[in-house]
Amino acid sequence: MSSALIDHPALKPGRVAVITGAASGIGLAAAHKLAGLGMNLHLIDRDGDGLDRALEAIEFANGGVATTWTLDVSDPAAFNDLRGVIARSGESVGILMNNAGVGSGGDALAPREAWDRVLGVNFLGVLNGVQAFAPTMIAAGQPALIVNTGSKQGITTPPGDTAYNVSKAAVKALTEGLAHTLRTTPGSKVSAHLLIPGFVWTGLTANGRTEKPDGAWTAEQTVDFAFERIAAGDFYILCPDNETPTALDHKRIAWAAGDITENRPALSRWHPDYADAFKAFVAESSGGG
Ligand SMILES: NC(=O)c1ccc[n+]([C@@H]2O[C@H](COP(=O)([O-])OP(=O)(O)OC[C@H]3O[C@@H](n4cnc5c(N)ncnc54)[C@H](O)[C@@H]3O)[C@@H](O)[C@H]2O)c1
Repeated sequence: MSSALIDHPALKPGRVAVITGAASGIGLAAAHKLAGLGMNLHLIDRDGDGLDRALEAIEFANGGVATTWTLDVSDPAAFNDLRGVIARSGESVGILMNNAGVGSGGDALAPREAWDRVLGVNFLGVLNGVQAFAPTMIAAGQPALIVNTGSKQGITTPPGDTAYNVSKAAVKALTEGLAHTLRTTPGSKVSAHLLIPGFVWTGLTANGRTEKPDGAWTAEQTVDFAFERIAAGDFYILCPDNETPTALDHKRIAWAAGDITENRPALSRWHPDYADAFKAFVAESSGGG
């Protein structure tokens, strides 16, 4: 897919992009994109070999360079060296993408270790990145972006994958709070954005498949869409895919909120007594898109 143009003052040659989960999938696609803009990359992943492969494959424009960091985002201390290196270089972070994530936490009664693992990476990993970099990004007084990767599952919370849903709901709440903090901090030119991917063909969703299912978008499509919406100033970057158009996502999100305002049972979308009502709700005209 051709690279869409990005016009944002934070995404300029010489500025720094910090990306977690950069060895594959969405993070890697973002690394390719930002290298093409001439940014200097700091690529973070726990998969060191994957980072080496990424570094070999990335083509840089305008003299951009990359440094790789093999670390676990769930460890707050792991970010310290990286923060120090960037601070000493005098470069300013234009974009921080807290994107590393894992799946398969299980339901409410799944083993505690699975919950700790998923919340440690998906939520605390994002919090660690925000707390390591946001203060200096604010103090730099330059336009900058913090993009945290959430999930539709953090909004509609489908049954069976509760640990993952909780981690992504936490990322949503954190990023919303961060957006408010950033816009009310005097002198801050940093904005926060919640990336909400659709079904994307990556290592996370492959499940043994070797070919992209028709319903999925590629990571490159997702990243192109994300930067288009960031340039337009969106906070919620709600990505479609080949099986779920945006209008259907809107219906699902509205139905989930309606469980509370209509006093329905939790997760009524998956409750047999509400199957017809949900179907009818989806079929109703949304009155304009
Ligand atoms: N693929 C999808 O359909 C989809 C949908 C919604 C949300 N997401 C989210 O998108 C993000 C990127 O996932 P992806 O689909 O590109 O999957 P991916 O598996 O291709 O990429 C995730 C990367 O994160 C790295 N990682 C995992 N744990 C880490 C840790 N503790 N420290 C450092 N790096 C770690 C992995 O090594 C991997 O390179 C995740 O947060 C995921 O939850 C993906």
